[in-house]
Amino acid sequence: MKILSIETSCDDTAISIFEVRGTAKPSFKVLANNSNSQINIHIPYGGVYPVLAKREHAKNLPILLEASLKQAKLEKKSKPVDAIAVTYGPGLEMCLWEGIIFAKDLAKKWGVPIIPVNHMEGHVVSVFGKHKGKFLIPKVKTPILSLLVSGGHTQLVLSKKFMQYEIVGETLDDAVGEAFDKVARMLDLPYPGGPQISKMAEIERAAKKQIIFGSLSPRARGALPLGSSACETPKNDCFSFALPRPMLHSKDFNFSYAGLKTAVLYLIRKIAPDGKLDYKTKSAIALEFENAAIECLVYKTKKAIEKYGAKTLMVAGGVAANRHLRNEMSALGGKKIKLLFPTLELSGDNSLMIGIAGYLNYIKNKRKVPKPALIKATGNLRL
Ligand code: KG4
Ligand code: ZN
Repeated sequence: MKILSIETSCDDTAISIFEVRGTAKPSFKVLANNSNSQINIHIPYGGVYPVLAKREHAKNLPILLEASLKQAKLEKKSKPVDAIAVTYGPGLEMCLWEGIIFAKDLAKKWGVPIIPVNHMEGHVVSVFGKHKGKFLIPKVKTPILSLLVSGGHTQLVLSKKFMQYEIVGETLDDAVGEAFDKVARMLDLPYPGGPQISKMAEIERAAKKQIIFGSLSPRARGALPLGSSACETPKNDCFSFALPRPMLHSKDFNFSYAGLKTAVLYLIRKIAPDGKLDYKTKSAIALEFENAAIECLVYKTKKAIEKYGAKTLMVAGGVAANRHLRNEMSALGGKKIKLLFPTLELSGDNSLMIGIAGYLNYIKNKRKVPKPALIKATGNLRL
């Protein structure tokens, strides 16, 4: 069967078309995949401006549809696909509605069912994407532990069975991606800040390694942030900022990122009361922030793997693109647990993952779908 999938939960408008085969071990061939990122529109606001995002979705959906139908060579068919999968939550409700209303109009015109999809389940199944537009759903050993890390979520999810979810830990305040974005703003880096901080931290981490292995003296490199006294380590002439690792040793699997973000704010106020930071100091802060943020994720995930005897670990969501997180999780992996990450293109929001999750639900629910009138945008939808 052919499925058209739509994603509009935040600032990406995306449409894909799949050809799906099989139910026991389904395989998906991507016939079309088109998206429009609104990053440039939101940069002046330092974050997603919902009204603008909604307007952009409304403008872009018909354009992406036309392009996708052409790409899939289905533009002349009166019923080009057999079903439509659409994200109905979580996300910005006014944005979700744009996708849902668009899906309802198409479903009526083509006489096909609508499969409502939970965006976070989309992230979970994004780990099955292969390069060259193919998805294969393998047999995955249970229990599965999923670490879902995005701009709106930080969750540890246990699946005793495939596609059954129990949230065993989550952030009590900000999501980790949100903390990356907010700290980036404090460092005057453009939105979305996660990739920017990550890039800065990567360079600084590599430079620090060189110092440790003695190939470059810190003085020669001129890489020392001046004016810091909090955690000076005079022995090797390096300065480091110690940021907290909130809730690291709490007995649950929850996270907290609001305190870490505030600690960065106070640190900046302390070392640069005029708010002016040089590049080297920014890099040092980016590195220590990334280390702190990722350490909390890795430590809690390790504890949860042990407690639940997880056989598979999936890490997904926008922050799964973070290289330090990937490296640290790979070190956790070992032989006892299978580690699955999405490809870099599938880490962020996309409509491919919505189509996959849609189809898997469609067959799980024996092809039963709700009446279109019952499908409503649900901003705070849970897994
Ligand atoms: O899943 P996603 O694309 O959208 C939501 O559903 O929220 O996640 C976006 C988040 C943003 O906060 C962005 O800054 C973060 O993922 N992000 C990263 C990296 N790439 C994207 N955070 C840290 N390191 C990255 N490399
Ligand atoms: Zn997302």
